[in-house]
Amino acid sequence: MKKDVRSIINILDLSKEEIELLMDTADEIEKDPAAFSEVCRHKQLATLFFEPSTRTRLSFESAMLSLGGSVLGFSSANSSSASKGESVADTIEVVSNYADIIAMRHPREGAAYVASLHSNVPVVNAGDGGHFHPTQTMADLLTIRRKKGRIGDITVGICGDLKYGRTVHSLIDALQRYEGIRYVLISPEELRLPEYMIEKLASEGAEYTETRDLETAIPDLDVLYMTRIQKERFLDEAEYERLKNSYVLTEEKLDAAKPDLCIMHPLPRVNEISVRVDEDERACYFYQTYCGKQMRMALIMYLLGLTKEDERAHRPAGKVPAKMLEGSARCANPACISVTEQELPQSFEAVDEAAGLYRCVYCDEIIKIK
Ligand code: CP
Repeated sequence: MKKDVRSIINILDLSKEEIELLMDTADEIEKDPAAFSEVCRHKQLATLFFEPSTRTRLSFESAMLSLGGSVLGFSSANSSSASKGESVADTIEVVSNYADIIAMRHPREGAAYVASLHSNVPVVNAGDGGHFHPTQTMADLLTIRRKKGRIGDITVGICGDLKYGRTVHSLIDALQRYEGIRYVLISPEELRLPEYMIEKLASEGAEYTETRDLETAIPDLDVLYMTRIQKERFLDEAEYERLKNSYVLTEEKLDAAKPDLCIMHPLPRVNEISVRVDEDERACYFYQTYCGKQMRMALIMYLLGLTKEDERAHRPAGKVPAKMLEGSARCANPACISVTEQELPQSFEAVDEAAGLYRCVYCDEIIKIK
């Protein structure tokens, strides 16, 4: 029997109030980092990275070290027993005996959720395929709050690979909780936001437009969130080659932008933002990485129960359980963890039972079951 521990798989696993408290904690950390330097003494963070990372892994590790804790883990699947065929479930059964908290990145969508089902300690999703990346969103929200002074009442342009860009999906989920967010979704047709997210925006009455054209969109934006075309997610290399240079933000294109535009990018960048833009004071993408460490420090403390009790009172409201379906239906998403993980039951939650629409509990793919 697993312990009842809190994991963060999706940004929506944190309530808006909790995220605001974490941002407040991040501000306190920025003001007085020494006050937090012993908070996680004798605590251990495991970073299990089955996929490459610079920022997320190192900022998690730096965060834990700055809190006085220690770190263990691996930075590629090849240096773990995954290379011998060990499942995510078994890996987590083992590592949750060694660490107090786990940050995990995996190329399969839903992998972090599977990990949470097998863990005795909190699991934080550090990116699961093209699905979610909640701690990047925490960094993004803190950046917006600090740079714009607010999160609501802004026009946010999101440009590039909106299909496979996991940071985009988590960011939109988070922004949907704020009033007055206007989205301009800028992408080639092939890399539009997934249908399930468009439907969610529409059903929630969000104000959004879709366009292919970055230049005409720029003048209206308060935030421009550029993204990399996610080469590693393409099934067809020729399609990647055709789309890879869809958008390049240059100094010239920024001439028409607002003077207080906040230019963001989760990084790594390939060529979506000219390096000459780095000198523009509106460039916030390296500042995002600075915010990311403070937010991860705040999150580690929070999940380990090392923040004040009164700050732990605002969990998201529980969902009304939907009708579940387990059996012979298969998830249609080739990147879903249920395709590769041994013994994992196919499991679907009803979205619209009358229409036969169900959501894969691992990767959110909507499938039709007759
Ligand atoms: N933003 C982000 O996830 O970067 P890394 O892939 O380097 O962790």
